[in-house]
Amino acid sequence: MRILVTGAQGILGQAIRESLASRNTLYLWGRDEGDVRDLERIRTSAKGIEFDAVIHAAAMTAVDRCETELDLAMATNRDGTRNVAALARERGATLVYVSTDYVFDGSKQGPYVEDDPPRPINAYGRSKLAGEEATREAGGKFLIARTSWVFGEGGKNFVDAIAEKLQRREAPEVVTDQQGSPTYARDLARGIEKLLRIGATGTVHVTNSGVTSWHGFAVEIARYLGSPLTVRETTSDRFPRPAPRPKNSVLSGERYRALTGESLPSWQEALHDYLGRRSVRKGAAA
Ligand SMILES: NC(=O)c1ccc[n+]([C@@H]2O[C@H](COP(=O)([O-])OP(=O)(O)OC[C@H]3O[C@@H](n4cnc5c(N)ncnc54)[C@H](OP(=O)(O)O)[C@@H]3O)[C@@H](O)[C@H]2O)c1
Repeated sequence: MRILVTGAQGILGQAIRESLASRNTLYLWGRDEGDVRDLERIRTSAKGIEFDAVIHAAAMTAVDRCETELDLAMATNRDGTRNVAALARERGATLVYVSTDYVFDGSKQGPYVEDDPPRPINAYGRSKLAGEEATREAGGKFLIARTSWVFGEGGKNFVDAIAEKLQRREAPEVVTDQQGSPTYARDLARGIEKLLRIGATGTVHVTNSGVTSWHGFAVEIARYLGSPLTVRETTSDRFPRPAPRPKNSVLSGERYRALTGESLPSWQEALHDYLGRRSVRKGAAA
């Protein structure tokens, strides 16, 4: 496939480059090729290239900053998506819009299915939901791939933050009252590729398998690294942040499984793979 990727310097963008380049022709766009808020600029950048799909991974992802910079969040996540969707439609390509568990309010008991009504509780979630609506309204072929708790090379992520704390011999304190499915950017990239290859459209949840809390996630990081430190428990009300987070971020993998005949690996396997590669990288850098 020929795939145009926006946000190529972000966590997912880098994983797409690592995991998909050998089987596909990739056009990797960072900000230099076009700020997605500028439709004419991205049209110009796309002149002379042919692509079957656009994986739109560019987004304003700083969840707390979105609370105070809502205009920028909407300009990037809603209007930018409308622009990328227009480009994809004009060129007859399938748009993959990468969306988030944060479109839900977290009050459901059990995993969210694709058709559950979204009800975001923070500005980031509202801007990403507006991006979903822009994707549907554009009139082209689209796939909305909702994911959650992404970790991977090339950006700030929870796994590195906890690992670095443990290595400084500081015991992390982590919330127990938010549940979700950590997702390795490489598995997400491969999952999206699989969905594109089978021609899936509409909305599909794409996460690693299994459920944990942020605390459980941190405990597994400490265990894998052989840290003697205890990961201390806390709760969201004792750890207030500008943007409220949903308590339940668990996305059902049933539709993904029905479409592809398989599930993404467990979050533990994915975490071990990431931490193994991370120690090789650190070793190589030392
Ligand atoms: N990370 C998560 O936990 C998570 C969870 C659910 C869904 N998602 C979604 O997954 C997708 C990929 O996220 P990620 O984790 O890879 O995020 P990321 O590491 O923050 O990458 C996003 C990239 O988009 C770029 N970008 C921001 N505004 C732009 C603009 N106006 N024009 C062009 N590029 C722009 C950023 O560049 P700068 O660094 O220069 O700003 C960055 O390289 C996003 O749609 C996100 O909403 C992420």
